[in-house]
Amino acid sequence: MTQVRNHSVGAAPGKVILFGEHAVVHGRPAVAAALSHGLGVVVRPTASHSRLNIPRWGRNGLVVEADPKKEVGNDAVSKAFRRALDLFELHNKTSVDVTIDGELPLGVGLGSSAAFSVSLIRGLADYCGVRLNDENLRRNAHELESIFHGNSSGLDHSVIIQNECLRFHPRKPPQYQPVKIGIGLPIVVAWTPRLGTTKDAVSHVATLAKAQPALSDQIFDTIASVVDRACEALKEGDFTTIGQLMNMNHGLLSALGVVSVENDKMVSIARAAGALGAKVTGAGFGGAVIALAPGAGERVRDRLIASGYPALLNFIQN
Ligand code: PMV
Repeated sequence: MTQVRNHSVGAAPGKVILFGEHAVVHGRPAVAAALSHGLGVVVRPTASHSRLNIPRWGRNGLVVEADPKKEVGNDAVSKAFRRALDLFELHNKTSVDVTIDGELPLGVGLGSSAAFSVSLIRGLADYCGVRLNDENLRRNAHELESIFHGNSSGLDHSVIIQNECLRFHPRKPPQYQPVKIGIGLPIVVAWTPRLGTTKDAVSHVATLAKAQPALSDQIFDTIASVVDRACEALKEGDFTTIGQLMNMNHGLLSALGVVSVENDKMVSIARAAGALGAKVTGAGFGGAVIALAPGAGERVRDRLIASGYPALLNFIQN
Protein backbone atom coordinates (compact mmCIF):
# COMPACT_ATOMS: atom_id res chain seq x y z
CA MET A 1 0.00 0.00 0.00
CA THR A 2 1.22 3.47 -0.84
CA GLN A 3 -0.33 6.90 -0.47
CA VAL A 4 -4.02 7.22 0.48
CA ARG A 5 -6.33 9.85 -1.02
CA ASN A 6 -9.19 11.91 0.36
CA HIS A 7 -11.85 10.79 -2.02
CA SER A 8 -11.60 7.79 -4.34
CA VAL A 9 -13.97 5.99 -6.66
CA GLY A 10 -14.56 2.68 -8.44
CA ALA A 11 -17.33 1.24 -10.60
CA ALA A 12 -18.44 -2.01 -12.24
CA PRO A 13 -21.39 -3.04 -14.42
CA GLY A 14 -23.79 -5.90 -13.74
CA LYS A 15 -24.10 -8.86 -16.13
CA VAL A 16 -26.70 -10.99 -17.86
CA ILE A 17 -26.42 -14.46 -19.29
CA LEU A 18 -27.93 -13.97 -22.76
CA PHE A 19 -27.99 -17.68 -23.68
CA GLY A 20 -26.88 -21.04 -22.29
CA GLU A 21 -27.35 -20.97 -18.49
CA HIS A 22 -27.63 -24.41 -16.82
CA ALA A 23 -26.40 -26.24 -19.96
CA VAL A 24 -23.04 -24.54 -19.21
CA VAL A 25 -22.86 -26.52 -15.96
CA HIS A 26 -23.07 -29.66 -18.14
CA GLY A 27 -20.17 -28.76 -20.39
CA ARG A 28 -21.88 -26.61 -23.04
CA PRO A 29 -21.07 -22.99 -24.00
CA ALA A 30 -22.91 -19.86 -22.81
CA VAL A 31 -22.93 -16.18 -23.81
CA ALA A 32 -23.00 -13.35 -21.27
CA ALA A 33 -22.77 -9.57 -21.55
CA ALA A 34 -22.16 -6.58 -19.30
CA LEU A 35 -25.19 -4.43 -18.46
CA SER A 36 -25.27 -0.66 -18.76
CA HIS A 37 -26.46 -0.56 -15.11
CA GLY A 38 -24.05 -1.35 -12.29
CA LEU A 39 -22.55 -0.20 -9.00
CA GLY A 40 -20.38 2.78 -8.08
CA VAL A 41 -18.12 3.06 -5.03
CA VAL A 42 -16.95 6.12 -3.10
CA VAL A 43 -14.16 5.66 -0.52
CA ARG A 44 -13.29 8.30 2.09
CA PRO A 45 -11.00 8.25 5.12
CA THR A 46 -12.75 8.23 8.50
CA ALA A 47 -11.66 8.77 12.09
CA SER A 48 -13.74 5.84 13.44
CA HIS A 49 -13.38 2.21 12.31
CA SER A 50 -14.04 1.13 8.72
CA ARG A 51 -17.61 0.95 7.53
CA LEU A 52 -19.48 -0.10 4.39
CA ASN A 53 -22.88 1.38 3.42
CA ILE A 54 -25.05 0.01 0.63
CA PRO A 55 -28.25 2.10 0.91
CA ARG A 56 -30.26 0.20 -1.71
CA TRP A 57 -29.63 -3.35 -0.53
CA GLY A 58 -32.12 -4.42 2.11
CA ARG A 59 -35.14 -2.41 3.23
CA ASN A 60 -33.14 -0.10 5.47
CA GLY A 61 -29.93 -0.38 3.52
CA LEU A 62 -26.98 -2.52 4.45
CA VAL A 63 -24.31 -1.31 6.87
CA VAL A 64 -21.20 -3.31 7.75
CA GLU A 65 -19.00 -2.13 10.63
CA ALA A 66 -15.47 -3.52 10.33
CA ASP A 67 -14.14 -2.91 13.82
CA PRO A 68 -10.77 -4.76 13.89
CA LYS A 69 -11.37 -5.56 17.59
CA LYS A 70 -14.63 -7.40 16.83
CA GLU A 71 -15.38 -10.67 15.03
CA VAL A 72 -16.49 -10.17 11.45
CA GLY A 73 -20.23 -10.81 10.78
CA ASN A 74 -21.12 -14.19 9.32
CA ASP A 75 -22.77 -12.91 6.14
CA ALA A 76 -20.94 -12.88 2.80
CA VAL A 77 -20.95 -9.07 2.39
CA SER A 78 -19.27 -8.55 5.81
CA LYS A 79 -16.69 -11.26 5.13
CA ALA A 80 -15.94 -9.95 1.62
CA PHE A 81 -15.57 -6.37 2.91
CA ARG A 82 -13.14 -7.48 5.63
CA ARG A 83 -11.18 -9.56 3.09
CA ALA A 84 -10.99 -6.59 0.68
CA LEU A 85 -9.57 -4.38 3.48
CA ASP A 86 -6.99 -7.11 4.18
CA LEU A 87 -6.03 -7.37 0.49
CA PHE A 88 -4.99 -3.70 0.61
CA GLU A 89 -3.56 -4.00 4.13
CA LEU A 90 -5.91 -1.25 5.27
CA HIS A 91 -6.70 -2.75 8.67
CA ASN A 92 -4.88 -1.10 11.55
CA LYS A 93 -3.36 1.52 9.22
CA THR A 94 -6.25 3.72 8.20
CA SER A 95 -10.03 3.42 8.36
CA VAL A 96 -12.29 3.95 5.39
CA ASP A 97 -15.92 4.83 4.92
CA VAL A 98 -17.14 3.05 1.77
CA THR A 99 -20.48 3.71 0.06
CA ILE A 100 -21.67 1.47 -2.76
CA ASP A 101 -24.73 2.48 -4.74
CA GLY A 102 -26.33 1.78 -8.09
CA GLU A 103 -29.38 0.29 -9.73
CA LEU A 104 -28.34 -3.34 -9.43
CA PRO A 105 -30.51 -5.54 -7.21
CA LEU A 106 -28.94 -8.11 -4.90
CA GLY A 107 -29.25 -11.83 -5.56
CA VAL A 108 -31.48 -12.10 -8.64
CA GLY A 109 -28.82 -13.28 -11.10
CA LEU A 110 -27.58 -9.91 -12.42
CA GLY A 111 -24.01 -10.32 -11.18
CA SER A 112 -24.46 -8.21 -8.03
CA SER A 113 -21.78 -10.07 -6.05
CA ALA A 114 -19.21 -9.83 -8.86
CA ALA A 115 -20.03 -6.13 -9.45
CA PHE A 116 -19.73 -5.59 -5.67
CA SER A 117 -16.33 -7.32 -5.64
CA VAL A 118 -14.91 -5.58 -8.71
CA SER A 119 -16.16 -2.08 -7.83
CA LEU A 120 -14.95 -2.40 -4.21
CA ILE A 121 -11.48 -3.55 -5.32
CA ARG A 122 -11.29 -0.72 -7.87
CA GLY A 123 -12.34 1.86 -5.25
CA LEU A 124 -9.85 0.61 -2.63
CA ALA A 125 -7.06 0.41 -5.23
CA ASP A 126 -7.76 4.02 -6.23
CA TYR A 127 -7.75 5.03 -2.56
CA CYS A 128 -4.39 3.36 -1.99
CA GLY A 129 -2.92 4.67 -5.25
CA VAL A 130 -2.39 1.08 -6.47
CA ARG A 131 -2.53 0.46 -10.24
CA LEU A 132 -4.18 -2.92 -10.82
CA ASN A 133 -3.81 -4.78 -14.10
CA ASP A 134 -6.68 -7.01 -15.28
CA GLU A 135 -4.92 -10.13 -14.02
CA ASN A 136 -4.60 -8.80 -10.43
CA LEU A 137 -8.14 -7.48 -10.51
CA ARG A 138 -9.42 -10.85 -11.74
CA ARG A 139 -7.54 -12.77 -9.03
CA ASN A 140 -8.75 -10.50 -6.21
CA ALA A 141 -12.32 -10.41 -7.56
CA HIS A 142 -12.36 -14.22 -7.81
CA GLU A 143 -11.30 -14.44 -4.18
CA LEU A 144 -14.07 -12.10 -2.99
CA GLU A 145 -16.69 -13.68 -5.25
CA SER A 146 -15.84 -17.12 -3.92
CA ILE A 147 -16.94 -15.87 -0.47
CA PHE A 148 -20.44 -15.47 -1.99
CA HIS A 149 -20.62 -18.52 -4.25
CA GLY A 150 -17.97 -21.03 -3.23
CA ASN A 151 -15.59 -21.74 -6.11
CA SER A 152 -17.22 -19.65 -8.86
CA SER A 153 -16.71 -20.34 -12.59
CA GLY A 154 -15.30 -16.84 -13.07
CA LEU A 155 -17.77 -16.04 -15.84
CA ASP A 156 -19.43 -13.14 -13.97
CA HIS A 157 -16.32 -11.22 -13.04
CA SER A 158 -14.66 -11.89 -16.43
CA VAL A 159 -17.61 -10.30 -18.25
CA ILE A 160 -17.75 -7.48 -15.70
CA ILE A 161 -14.01 -6.69 -15.79
CA GLN A 162 -13.84 -6.86 -19.60
CA ASN A 163 -17.16 -4.99 -19.88
CA GLU A 164 -18.09 -6.83 -23.06
CA CYS A 165 -20.04 -9.73 -24.48
CA LEU A 166 -18.22 -13.08 -24.08
CA ARG A 167 -18.81 -16.64 -25.26
CA PHE A 168 -17.75 -18.88 -22.40
CA HIS A 169 -16.81 -22.54 -22.70
CA PRO A 170 -16.37 -24.41 -19.39
CA ARG A 171 -13.21 -26.27 -20.47
CA LYS A 172 -10.21 -26.63 -18.19
CA PRO A 173 -9.01 -23.90 -18.24
CA PRO A 174 -12.23 -22.04 -19.15
CA GLN A 175 -12.27 -20.34 -22.55
CA TYR A 176 -13.55 -16.82 -23.16
CA GLN A 177 -14.12 -15.46 -26.64
CA PRO A 178 -15.30 -11.88 -27.23
CA VAL A 179 -18.49 -11.67 -29.32
CA LYS A 180 -18.57 -8.39 -31.26
CA ILE A 181 -22.21 -7.30 -31.11
CA GLY A 182 -23.20 -5.87 -34.53
CA ILE A 183 -25.78 -3.46 -33.14
CA GLY A 184 -26.53 -2.36 -29.53
CA LEU A 185 -29.24 -4.43 -27.82
CA PRO A 186 -32.11 -2.61 -26.07
CA ILE A 187 -32.73 -5.13 -23.29
CA VAL A 188 -35.31 -4.80 -20.53
CA VAL A 189 -34.37 -6.59 -17.31
CA ALA A 190 -37.12 -7.35 -14.78
CA TRP A 191 -37.00 -9.42 -11.63
CA THR A 192 -38.87 -11.03 -8.79
CA PRO A 193 -37.57 -12.59 -5.55
CA ARG A 194 -35.95 -15.98 -5.96
CA LEU A 195 -37.74 -19.09 -4.67
CA GLY A 196 -34.44 -20.94 -4.31
CA THR A 197 -30.73 -20.28 -4.64
CA THR A 198 -28.57 -20.84 -7.73
CA LYS A 199 -27.30 -23.96 -5.97
CA ASP A 200 -30.90 -25.27 -5.57
CA ALA A 201 -31.65 -24.69 -9.27
CA VAL A 202 -28.37 -26.30 -10.38
CA SER A 203 -29.04 -29.32 -8.18
CA HIS A 204 -32.62 -29.59 -9.53
CA VAL A 205 -31.22 -29.83 -13.08
CA ALA A 206 -28.54 -32.32 -11.96
CA THR A 207 -31.25 -34.57 -10.48
CA LEU A 208 -33.23 -34.40 -13.72
CA ALA A 209 -30.10 -35.13 -15.79
CA LYS A 210 -29.47 -38.21 -13.66
CA ALA A 211 -33.07 -39.45 -13.95
CA GLN A 212 -33.34 -38.73 -17.70
CA PRO A 213 -29.75 -38.67 -19.03
CA ALA A 214 -30.47 -39.13 -22.74
CA LEU A 215 -33.31 -36.59 -22.92
CA SER A 216 -31.44 -34.05 -20.76
CA ASP A 217 -28.39 -34.40 -22.98
CA GLN A 218 -30.55 -33.62 -25.99
CA ILE A 219 -31.86 -30.50 -24.27
CA PHE A 220 -28.30 -29.38 -23.37
CA ASP A 221 -27.15 -30.04 -26.96
CA THR A 222 -30.08 -28.03 -28.33
CA ILE A 223 -29.19 -25.15 -25.97
CA ALA A 224 -25.59 -25.36 -27.27
CA SER A 225 -26.91 -25.04 -30.85
CA VAL A 226 -29.00 -22.04 -29.76
CA VAL A 227 -25.84 -20.47 -28.29
CA ASP A 228 -23.86 -21.01 -31.51
CA ARG A 229 -26.62 -19.62 -33.70
CA ALA A 230 -27.07 -16.70 -31.25
CA CYS A 231 -23.37 -15.76 -31.51
CA GLU A 232 -23.79 -15.39 -35.29
CA ALA A 233 -27.03 -13.42 -34.91
CA LEU A 234 -25.42 -11.12 -32.29
CA LYS A 235 -22.51 -10.41 -34.64
CA GLU A 236 -24.90 -9.77 -37.54
CA GLY A 237 -27.14 -7.55 -35.38
CA ASP A 238 -30.13 -9.67 -36.43
CA PHE A 239 -32.77 -8.70 -33.84
CA THR A 240 -35.47 -11.02 -35.21
CA THR A 241 -33.30 -14.12 -34.91
CA ILE A 242 -31.93 -13.10 -31.49
CA GLY A 243 -35.54 -12.70 -30.26
CA GLN A 244 -36.59 -16.10 -31.65
CA LEU A 245 -33.59 -17.77 -30.03
CA MET A 246 -34.36 -16.13 -26.68
CA ASN A 247 -37.87 -17.58 -26.82
CA MET A 248 -36.50 -21.02 -27.72
CA ASN A 249 -33.93 -20.87 -24.91
CA HIS A 250 -36.71 -19.93 -22.45
CA GLY A 251 -38.75 -22.97 -23.56
CA LEU A 252 -35.73 -25.22 -23.06
CA LEU A 253 -35.16 -23.81 -19.55
CA SER A 254 -38.83 -24.51 -18.89
CA ALA A 255 -38.26 -28.12 -19.96
CA LEU A 256 -35.44 -28.26 -17.38
CA GLY A 257 -37.91 -27.13 -14.71
CA VAL A 258 -36.23 -23.88 -13.57
CA VAL A 259 -38.85 -21.40 -14.85
CA SER A 260 -41.26 -20.21 -12.13
CA VAL A 261 -44.84 -18.98 -12.60
CA GLU A 262 -43.62 -15.40 -11.98
CA ASN A 263 -40.83 -15.82 -14.57
CA ASP A 264 -43.43 -16.93 -17.12
CA LYS A 265 -45.71 -14.01 -16.24
CA MET A 266 -42.89 -11.49 -16.77
CA VAL A 267 -41.94 -13.12 -20.08
CA SER A 268 -45.60 -13.03 -21.28
CA ILE A 269 -46.03 -9.37 -20.29
CA ALA A 270 -42.82 -8.43 -22.14
CA ARG A 271 -43.82 -10.30 -25.31
CA ALA A 272 -47.36 -8.84 -25.26
CA ALA A 273 -45.87 -5.33 -24.93
CA GLY A 274 -43.81 -5.80 -28.09
CA ALA A 275 -40.57 -7.61 -27.10
CA LEU A 276 -39.15 -9.73 -29.94
CA GLY A 277 -38.06 -12.34 -27.43
CA ALA A 278 -37.86 -12.88 -23.67
CA LYS A 279 -36.32 -15.45 -21.37
CA VAL A 280 -35.12 -16.24 -17.89
CA THR A 281 -31.53 -15.11 -17.32
CA GLY A 282 -29.36 -16.89 -14.77
CA ALA A 283 -30.46 -19.69 -12.51
CA GLY A 284 -34.26 -19.18 -12.61
CA PHE A 285 -36.58 -20.32 -9.76
CA GLY A 286 -37.76 -16.67 -9.88
CA GLY A 287 -35.04 -14.02 -10.26
CA ALA A 288 -34.51 -12.09 -13.46
CA VAL A 289 -35.81 -12.22 -17.02
CA ILE A 290 -34.55 -10.31 -20.06
CA ALA A 291 -36.53 -9.06 -23.05
CA LEU A 292 -35.18 -7.79 -26.37
CA ALA A 293 -37.30 -4.77 -27.22
CA PRO A 294 -36.04 -2.60 -30.11
CA GLY A 295 -38.42 0.37 -30.46
CA ALA A 296 -40.53 -0.87 -27.52
CA GLY A 297 -38.09 -0.75 -24.61
CA GLU A 298 -39.88 1.91 -22.58
CA ARG A 299 -43.30 0.32 -23.16
CA VAL A 300 -42.06 -3.14 -22.11
CA ARG A 301 -40.32 -1.72 -19.02
CA ASP A 302 -43.36 0.37 -18.01
CA ARG A 303 -45.83 -2.55 -18.44
CA LEU A 304 -43.65 -4.75 -16.25
CA ILE A 305 -43.41 -2.04 -13.60
CA ALA A 306 -47.20 -1.45 -13.79
CA SER A 307 -47.66 -5.21 -13.18
CA GLY A 308 -45.57 -4.97 -10.01
CA TYR A 309 -42.15 -6.12 -11.28
CA PRO A 310 -39.12 -3.84 -10.88
CA ALA A 311 -37.57 -3.34 -14.32
CA LEU A 312 -34.77 -1.39 -16.04
CA LEU A 313 -34.12 -0.58 -19.68
CA ASN A 314 -30.52 -1.42 -20.56
CA PHE A 315 -28.45 -0.94 -23.64
CA ILE A 316 -25.93 -3.73 -24.26
CA GLN A 317 -23.10 -2.94 -26.63
CA ASN A 318 -19.38 -3.55 -27.12
O1 PMV B 1 -28.26 -16.65 -11.62
P1 PMV B 1 -26.76 -16.68 -11.60
O2 PMV B 1 -26.12 -15.42 -11.99
O3 PMV B 1 -26.28 -17.24 -10.29
O4 PMV B 1 -26.31 -17.67 -12.77
C1 PMV B 1 -26.34 -19.05 -12.66
C2 PMV B 1 -25.98 -19.68 -13.98
C3 PMV B 1 -25.99 -21.19 -13.96
O5 PMV B 1 -25.68 -21.61 -15.29
C4 PMV B 1 -27.37 -21.73 -13.61
C5 PMV B 1 -24.99 -21.76 -12.96
C6 PMV B 1 -23.52 -21.57 -13.34
O6 PMV B 1 -22.68 -21.72 -12.44
O7 PMV B 1 -23.22 -21.32 -14.52
